[in-house]
Amino acid sequence: MCKNPYRPIKAEVLDVITETPSIKTIRFKPEEPMSFKTGQFFEITVPGIGEAPFTPSSRPSVQDVFEISVMRVGKLTRAIHELKAGDTIGVRGPMGNGYPLDHFRGKELLVMGGGCGFAPLRSLMYSLFDMSGQFKQLYFRGGCKNPSEFLYRREIESWGERKDLNLQLTVDKGDENWKGNVGLVLNILDTVQIDHKTAIAIVCGPPVMMKFGTKKLLEMGFSEDNIYLSMEKNMSCGIGKCGHCRIGTYYACKDGPVFTYSKIKNFAEIWD
Ligand SMILES: Cc1cc2nc3c(=O)[nH]c(=O)nc-3n(C[C@H](O)[C@H](O)[C@H](O)COP(=O)(O)OP(=O)(O)OC[C@H]3O[C@@H](n4cnc5c(N)ncnc54)[C@H](O)[C@@H]3O)c2cc1C
Ligand code: FES
Repeated sequence: MCKNPYRPIKAEVLDVITETPSIKTIRFKPEEPMSFKTGQFFEITVPGIGEAPFTPSSRPSVQDVFEISVMRVGKLTRAIHELKAGDTIGVRGPMGNGYPLDHFRGKELLVMGGGCGFAPLRSLMYSLFDMSGQFKQLYFRGGCKNPSEFLYRREIESWGERKDLNLQLTVDKGDENWKGNVGLVLNILDTVQIDHKTAIAIVCGPPVMMKFGTKKLLEMGFSEDNIYLSMEKNMSCGIGKCGHCRIGTYYACKDGPVFTYSKIKNFAEIWD
């Protein structure tokens, strides 16, 4: 975090990559040194438009150039989609807690997600790949609405060749070229052969997937303490001052965005 947490650092946009009809990846290089832990987020400013939180999708060990993958939903994300190489944006952060990677060491891990949730999960998977051999087993189960909305599809499919990863993907609705599973990501969890009582599950995706994914993991026998959720609440300050991102007694920006289910399960606004 920079000395003044409200001051954005200028960054040059290096590339804008069209990933899917609604998602673009922005590569940018900050003017000052920055770094992040996987699961932390940056507040990104488009001058004259506004600011919003985005979780880097790039490898945390690469500290001069960062990537965010952005789904176009409103005014700011539309402005991000219109950026061109050479434009200037502002970056504050990193903010939030990130994933407790040291705690995952030696365990069986299931990473599950979909949609725009692949952005933070790609960064997480890079970190886990960098720690290869330090987990008992590593499973990835990913799902998307359809093949054309499958963020990083070629790259994620290529992870299937790795010896240290058990990968299965699915789409809600296939097309003539899709040869893989069809159905919800919850339907491909039954092939995960781990000790549910001690394994760790990490979930990141649209709210409906987070909600029903968590329910299914609990039914499978995962412990509430071992289910890690990345919570995307509306944010403003990003540093625990404004209260916009409140979940019960916690602030998602400061105490999260990564929470165990056990920590937040009793708050009514958890799935809002
Ligand atoms: C910690 C964190 C990390 C995030 N990482 C990413 C990321 O990597 N990629 C990405 O595309 N988006 C990410 N988001 C969501 C992103 O911040 C919002 O999509 C963005 O603020 C929308 O701004 P807008 O002006 O374009 O849309 P607005 O006009 O503000 O909103 C348009 C629509 O999007 C909904 N919306 C706004 N903010 C959020 C939010 N935080 N979560 C869910 N729905 C929202 C609104 O309810 C509305 O329906 C993240 C959010 C958080 C809190
Ligand atoms: S965004 Fe202001 S308290 Fe979390």
